Amino acid sequence: MSVQQRNLNGSSEIYKKISKFVPENEWKVHAPLIEKINKLKKEKNAIILAHNYQTPEIYHGVADIAADSLALAVEAAKTSADKIIMCGVHFMAETAKLMNPNKKVFLPDMQAGCSLASSITGKDVRLLKQKYPGVPVVSYVNTSADVKAETDVCCTSANAVKVVESLNVEKVIFLPDQYLADYVAKNTKVKIISWKGTCIVHEQFTSKEIEDIKNQNPGIKVIAHPECPPDVIEASDFAGSTSGMIKYVKDNQPKKVMLVTECSMSDNVEADNPNVSFIKPCNLCPYMKKIDLEKILDCLENDTNEIILDNKTIEAARKSVIRMTEIGRWSVQKLNQSYIKTVVMKALEEDLRPRGDITTNLINSKNKIIKAKIIAKQDGVIAGLEFCKAAFKLIGRETVFIKKISDG
Ligand code: 13P
Ligand code: SF4
Repeated sequence: MSVQQRNLNGSSEIYKKISKFVPENEWKVHAPLIEKINKLKKEKNAIILAHNYQTPEIYHGVADIAADSLALAVEAAKTSADKIIMCGVHFMAETAKLMNPNKKVFLPDMQAGCSLASSITGKDVRLLKQKYPGVPVVSYVNTSADVKAETDVCCTSANAVKVVESLNVEKVIFLPDQYLADYVAKNTKVKIISWKGTCIVHEQFTSKEIEDIKNQNPGIKVIAHPECPPDVIEASDFAGSTSGMIKYVKDNQPKKVMLVTECSMSDNVEADNPNVSFIKPCNLCPYMKKIDLEKILDCLENDTNEIILDNKTIEAARKSVIRMTEIGRWSVQKLNQSYIKTVVMKALEEDLRPRGDITTNLINSKNKIIKAKIIAKQDGVIAGLEFCKAAFKLIGRETVFIKKISDG
């Protein structure tokens, strides 16, 4: 899991890391606030949790933990601090309160909302449940506590498919992001009943923009958030939660990358990966940008903007969030059909465009007989042949896969 534990010491060490993204005159304003916040949070036994979209001076300057929405929920449950300051949006602060109701949770600006969360109410969910009796409700964490209270299990972009499949049913109501619902539907056999919510940041990206960037930057890796429209995800090389995207960059160290998501994240990830060059399409989340250092300090000094939820809502909504954290992330260990198909199709994607090769023909042409030999490039342990067999069978039932050597 890509959780960034921040432990830079003095403000000069912090500035060394982010000077490329924060002009010197702005830093003069930020530095004293950062010093004050970092001192005060220790004195008050507070923890600062920050989402990956927060600006660099928050992400690298004052956050104790920076992560995606799933990890923030998990960290909120684990903390022994008395106070949690959530540098993110309202549903993230509410989720922290649900995970750890005995703690005081603060949101530096109560106007930090989310277009997805405001697209649906608890009443809407009750009406849907009447329309589809007995069909379980899976809600994205980007929802209010009222919606969560009507939900069977929550999910984030990091585990949406896994959560849907964990229910072992034929059909689910999946709320509120229509694009994430499309993404899930593509990766599972479960029938998805969706809602018409969208993220105002991710819905703006187009596949044309991706194709243009790819043409202008040969070899670039394009990584998209699953809240993007389906054709954008289709045109990208990888899709994952904000932490999944960070992990991709960290593990693969591509020469050039474009993160198809909120602006600040590219700055934050670039500061941690100086050898990777970033192309930055800029779509700002106006809600995430409501949080600033002054408001964080105000929370610490004056306990402003505490999240208050009634016990009935906490009790009902908490269950759906806890259930999600028990399921965890979308694990690559589960070898079900849809997982294999996704992985193989992704692996073959390069071959599909602009022209095919032997493996492309294997999936494209029904009447060709092709013999393929898989040859190891160097000595080593052979593993994954069972996976290959299952994968090729899935592509074409007539495919014969003969192992000449055994796994391991
Ligand atoms: P993640 O769960 O991937 O962090 O996304 C949250 C979010 O609001 C993205 O827009
Ligand atoms: Fe909501 Fe989109 Fe902003 Fe995320 S980026 S908080 S989904 S509006």
